[in-house]
Amino acid sequence: MVIELSGTSSAERKKVTVADFSKMKSHNQRIVMVTSYDYPTSIIADEVGVDSILVGDSYGMVVLGHDTTIPVTIEELLPVCQAVKRGASHSLLIGDMPFLSFQISEEDAIRNAGRFIKEGRMEAVKIEGGREMAHMAKAVSNAGIPVLGHIGITPQTATLHGGYRIQGKNADSGERLVEDAKSLEEAGVFGIVLEMITEEVARMITKTISVPTIGIGSGRYCDGQVLVLHDILGLYPRFVPKFAKRYTDLASTIKGAVTEYASEVRRGAFPEEKNVFKMDDAERDKLDLRQKS
Ligand code: KIV
Repeated sequence: MVIELSGTSSAERKKVTVADFSKMKSHNQRIVMVTSYDYPTSIIADEVGVDSILVGDSYGMVVLGHDTTIPVTIEELLPVCQAVKRGASHSLLIGDMPFLSFQISEEDAIRNAGRFIKEGRMEAVKIEGGREMAHMAKAVSNAGIPVLGHIGITPQTATLHGGYRIQGKNADSGERLVEDAKSLEEAGVFGIVLEMITEEVARMITKTISVPTIGIGSGRYCDGQVLVLHDILGLYPRFVPKFAKRYTDLASTIKGAVTEYASEVRRGAFPEEKNVFKMDDAERDKLDLRQKS
C-alpha cells in the first residue's frame, strides 16, 4: 500500500502529520524533508510535494552568514517560521530549537518549544542531542508538542568540541549511537535526524527503532533524507558537504541575471518602453503648458 502523501497534485494532497511519518516507515515509503527559510521557497517545496519542511537553525549560516549555528536565537527564527507557514499547506512543518533554547531546564524547553507552535505556527520541533537530552525531549513531548530528535553530528555543540567528525566509525561509538536513538525513542520522539553517521550504524539504528530515521550524510538506508535547500540549489558559497548533492547552480544563474541587469542599466537598455508608466496625452500637454507659463 502506498500512503498518498506526496507525488499527487497540490490540491489533492492531504496534510502530512507526525502520524504519517510512522505509517511511511511501516510501508517502506521514504520520507523527503528539506529546509526552507522563506515564503517563496516554502511555496515551491510544498507544491512539489516534499513531506516535511524544516526551518533549520542552519538559517544562521546559509542566510545570515554566521560561521556556526550557535548565535541563532528564537527571536530570529520565529518570523522565518511564520513566513514558511504562510507558504506551505501540506508539508509537516518543523521548527529547529536553537542553542540554549532547550538545554537549561525542562520548563524552559517546554516554554520555548511552545513559542515555535503558538507564535511560529510550526507543528513540531527538533531538538539536538542523544540520551543527555532525552529528558528534555520527553518533557516537551509530554506537553503535547511533537519532537524530532537529532543525533550524530549535532552542529550546535560540534563546533564547541573541535569540529565536524563522522560519527560511528568504531563499534563503541556505534553502540553509543544506537543507545542514544533508543533513549530518544523511549522519550517519545516521532523521528530522529541522523547526521554524518556511518552508513552501517545508521542502518542498524533504522532497523532497531520503531520511529523513522531521517538521514543527512548518513547513507542510503535511513527511512528518509533531509538536505539544506541552499546545498541542493548551489546557493551556499562557502562549501558543499560531501554528502550533499547540488541539483542546480543557482549562484551562477543569479550572477548571470544580476550582471545582465547591471549592464542594461549602465547602457540605458533597462527600463524599456514596456516597463514604464505613462500619463494621458491631454494631462501631459496640460503639465507642459503649466511648466512653460
Ligand atoms: O539546521 C538544519 O538545517 C538541520 C538539518 C541539517 C538537519 O539541523
